[in-house]
Amino acid sequence: MSVIDRDFENYINSILNPFTGRLGELQETAYTEGFPVIKNATARFLATIIALKRPEKILEIGCCIGFSASLMSEFMAGGGHITTIDRYDIMIDRAKQTFKEMELEKKITLLEGDALEILSEMDEKFDLIFMDAAKGQYIQFLPHCVRMLNKGGALIADDIFQNGYIAMERQDIPRRQRTTYTRMRRFLYSALNSEGLVSTIIPVDDGLLLSTKTADEVILKELDYDE
Ligand SMILES: C[S@@+](CC[C@H](N)C(=O)[O-])C[C@H]1O[C@@H](n2cnc3c(N)ncnc32)[C@H](O)[C@@H]1O
Repeated sequence: MSVIDRDFENYINSILNPFTGRLGELQETAYTEGFPVIKNATARFLATIIALKRPEKILEIGCCIGFSASLMSEFMAGGGHITTIDRYDIMIDRAKQTFKEMELEKKITLLEGDALEILSEMDEKFDLIFMDAAKGQYIQFLPHCVRMLNKGGALIADDIFQNGYIAMERQDIPRRQRTTYTRMRRFLYSALNSEGLVSTIIPVDDGLLLSTKTADEVILKELDYDE
């Protein structure tokens, strides 16, 4: 769900065409079968940023059936490489099928398992990191992302508005959503206020955070906030 005006959103979606060719077929399949892949306006945003920055090394946290990874592979630098992570067998099997069918097996490496455990053991540098996994874990992923991001690199995080809950008072949020809400608020505070990151919020679909690393070392500032 988007938090922007519905008529305005419909207008934007009416002029943003879906992708064509094999990428378009994958997008259509994902939407038809109900896989939680990025929406069309977000896909357009991501494609534009990738085409603009031409990253050589990309890390994705949250692969699903491989739509956003396939999309990024089309617009990144030729000869570049994507590492993507997922822990759910159904998604992993479908993503492997996607990468085989699209002949992307050499360009995309799928790491299987819990992202936090995998990130803790990784020590590589990336030009762009796309965070699109469990929203309540973004705050835990962040230190690993800033550690592995090259200076001048970009971090993009999806679904930061949490269907609009992010702007509400804590007591007005359904109880089951409160922990994720608090963690997302802490994540946004760190990303928007830390030394060595320049960040903004993009109100596309369910909201994106876009950050760039401007220093060799990022000193993460933490929000003191109880769950
Ligand atoms: C929103 S979907 C990703 C969609 C994908 N980026 C796309 O647009 O094509 C989120 C995925 O993250 C995976 N996921 C969630 N939390 C995870 C974690 N802690 N470790 C690994 N995978 C995780 C889920 O299994 C799911 O497939």
